[in-house]
Amino acid sequence: MSENNTVLKAMGIHRIFPSGMTELHVLKGVDFELKRGEVVSLLGSSGSGKSTLLHILAGLDTPTDGTVMWGDTNIFALKDRVRSYLRNANLGFIFQFHHLFPELTALENVMLPLLIGGSDKSEARKKAEGLLERFGLSDRAEHFPSQLSGGEAQRVAVARAIVSEPQILLADEPSGNLDSENKKILHGMLLDISAQFGTAILIATHNIELAMITQRILYLTDGRLSDRSPSGGIVV
Ligand SMILES: Nc1ncnc2c1ncn2[C@@H]1O[C@H](COP(=O)(O)OP(=O)(O)OP(=O)(O)O)[C@@H](O)[C@H]1O
Ligand SMILES: [Mg+2]
Repeated sequence: MSENNTVLKAMGIHRIFPSGMTELHVLKGVDFELKRGEVVSLLGSSGSGKSTLLHILAGLDTPTDGTVMWGDTNIFALKDRVRSYLRNANLGFIFQFHHLFPELTALENVMLPLLIGGSDKSEARKKAEGLLERFGLSDRAEHFPSQLSGGEAQRVAVARAIVSEPQILLADEPSGNLDSENKKILHGMLLDISAQFGTAILIATHNIELAMITQRILYLTDGRLSDRSPSGGIVV
């Protein structure tokens, strides 16, 4: 980790997608820094590039230009295999739609990052069971994702994202498909995780209530990040 507690840093990120005969310049020089234990929300209209940016910060997509650092490590200078290994150890990702493996039970889904990281199976099971219990899912441990409600599946996805106690958690509209009760539960869980583990969290969201309880709100507008909304007020 850097001496100033920066766990994630992005510099000069550009992302250009081919679009028919032309190009779509989605990110136009994004600079971003996330410190240990910080919870930051990312607002921006649909199509502004929030998911694109999160995928790049997670090393799941490659920027057209720019640098992403996890701690002191320049992630795009690494071989794919090394980057995947580091991601599994250091970074959790919560997708808008839970992205659980359908052929694995809830418990197996949560155990997976630990097993990939080389943990002993009984240790992984113990840890995963502990998290499922904490999230009120003990009696759903043997359910497959298709046998879970949307809220349950998303809680399993959160458990899977944090089971390795990553320094960084990226969440892409994590409560977008939940009812207001489940939204509240999930938002509380994210803040608890940060408080307990010192996890730095970046949340892309359209949810103003969620944005208001984070420490910092950033806006993605015209391919750039700023801490001011385009209209002065809060815009989603
Ligand atoms: N693989 C791709 N190829 C071409 N264009 C893409 C690709 N991925 C995203 N885009 C385009 O880039 C723009 C940004 O997409 P992105 O999914 O990052 O937006 P978003 O801010 O996450 O939107 P939403 O709030 O609807 O989730 C969109 O116009 C989208 O069509
Ligand atoms: Mg998106």
